[in-house]
Amino acid sequence: MNIAVKTGDFRREETDVVVMGMLENPDFYSGYLHLADEALGGRIRELIELGDFKGKMKSTSLLYTRGAMTAPRVLLVGFGAYHELTVEKVRQVAGHAAKSVRDMGLKTATFLIPDEVPDPGNMVQAAAEAILLALYQFNQHKTVQEDDDEKRLDSITFLAESGPSRPMVERAAHRGQTIAEGTMLARNLSNQPANHLTPVQLAEKAENVAAENGLRCEVFDKTTLEEKGFRTLLAVAQGSVEEPRFIILEYLPEGEGTRGTGSRATVSGQDTVVLVGKGITFDTGGISLKAGKGMHEMKHDMSGAAAVLGAMQAIGQLKPNVHVIGVIAATENMPSGTAIKPGDVVTSYGGKTIEILNTDAEGRLVLADALGWIAQYNPQGVIDLATLTGAVITCLGHVAAGAMGTDPALMDKVKAAAEKTHERVWELPLWDDYDEGIKSKVADVQNIGDGTAGTIAGGAFLKKFVEDYPWVHLDIAGTAWGMKGSTYIPEGASGYGVRLLVQLVEDW
Ligand code: BES
Ligand code: MN
Ligand code: ZN
Repeated sequence: MNIAVKTGDFRREETDVVVMGMLENPDFYSGYLHLADEALGGRIRELIELGDFKGKMKSTSLLYTRGAMTAPRVLLVGFGAYHELTVEKVRQVAGHAAKSVRDMGLKTATFLIPDEVPDPGNMVQAAAEAILLALYQFNQHKTVQEDDDEKRLDSITFLAESGPSRPMVERAAHRGQTIAEGTMLARNLSNQPANHLTPVQLAEKAENVAAENGLRCEVFDKTTLEEKGFRTLLAVAQGSVEEPRFIILEYLPEGEGTRGTGSRATVSGQDTVVLVGKGITFDTGGISLKAGKGMHEMKHDMSGAAAVLGAMQAIGQLKPNVHVIGVIAATENMPSGTAIKPGDVVTSYGGKTIEILNTDAEGRLVLADALGWIAQYNPQGVIDLATLTGAVITCLGHVAAGAMGTDPALMDKVKAAAEKTHERVWELPLWDDYDEGIKSKVADVQNIGDGTAGTIAGGAFLKKFVEDYPWVHLDIAGTAWGMKGSTYIPEGASGYGVRLLVQLVEDW
């Protein structure tokens, strides 16, 4: 869905509902509230004076215009107190309003954007993002739509209060829409059942996204992976009949020539940021089989990959001034006669040996090869996103991703982007002390740690394969799925990471 932007008199707006924000204790006689109250014969003022609508955050009040305006309805939505207004509150309120309108069964809605919005670029963008994200549904596999699925808004308009603010509203709405679309791409991929999204299908999707958004794309198939020595990715893949894929997406800033060829191209004068995604399209645990309960949710074990792909799509459209490479290590993790076994030793792309003590710690195995491969780009920053450990849910719930890294400056950038987008991160230490836990008796390193600090053990393992570049690891096992308490994040896949990554790249 597109968000259309225009200017004009809201009283003449042809739409099912005009949505108006109101602060707590508003300066009532300013702006459109005053005009609307006048048109409605003082009924808004009446609501306020009777104390029936106070503008409290996420409160709503529906009024019928009975011919006083072209639109039959006005929906008042409370934004809470002015001095407590934040970009995240705008997302929460906008998401709530959009869902209210949808649930009423309405088809079109016009949101008024007042001139006096503080920090308008960010707040209008946030509203656009949240409206689209709140309306997201994943029902492509239902042949019969349930009642609630049938309720669908067809069009949304942002009405800028006055002409001069319109270009700003247009830009912000467009940015919000682009970022929301990247997030929804990630959600769709994560929600997609594993029989509809194999590694091969994920690679095809990446190729389509690349073709449509001016990105370069290269995909390594199994034979190429063998030639190049992606041994740990292949080790995880060997239990499955589905072939693995390694996917490389590249965004080149406009006007920048490339040196070198293909995936080895480097861009002169631009920093290179590499995004790495864990792309386990289904994680059974392998021979170290997971318990049955809730196992179906492991279809989302490619949420890191989904975030990278969603972010690359948005980056291709927003065209920031940074060279960005996204890589995805995609495979299933299955038990079978050909699967890896506990105790097996495999050698990573970079040449380190790994004792696989538990085949369910497969994400770090495929990432080991990816972290080795990307060293050739000489990146100024590397962020990996992975649904790596259940322990991060024990630690941080579904509220924040666990962040670990080797470079405080890059970590600060990630934290700043997380703060702005409310895709939260919380840093965990990666002290050398934790290296003890991943020592192996037979190889350079083992893959499960000593049973303590499971999330950090994952980070400590990855650190062994990080080469000479600044690196941050985000364990998104808690945030990619099952986030609650938000109006614009649904059950199932959240699309976590897309907004954070785009913000990080744009602020680079
Ligand atoms: N994909 C899982 C982690 C996960 C758990 C993601 C719950 C989302 C929700 C990962 O591959 C895994 O199985 N990790 C193991 C590691 C252990 C064997 C060291 C875990 O967390 O139990
Ligand atoms: Mn696993
Ligand atoms: Zn996994």
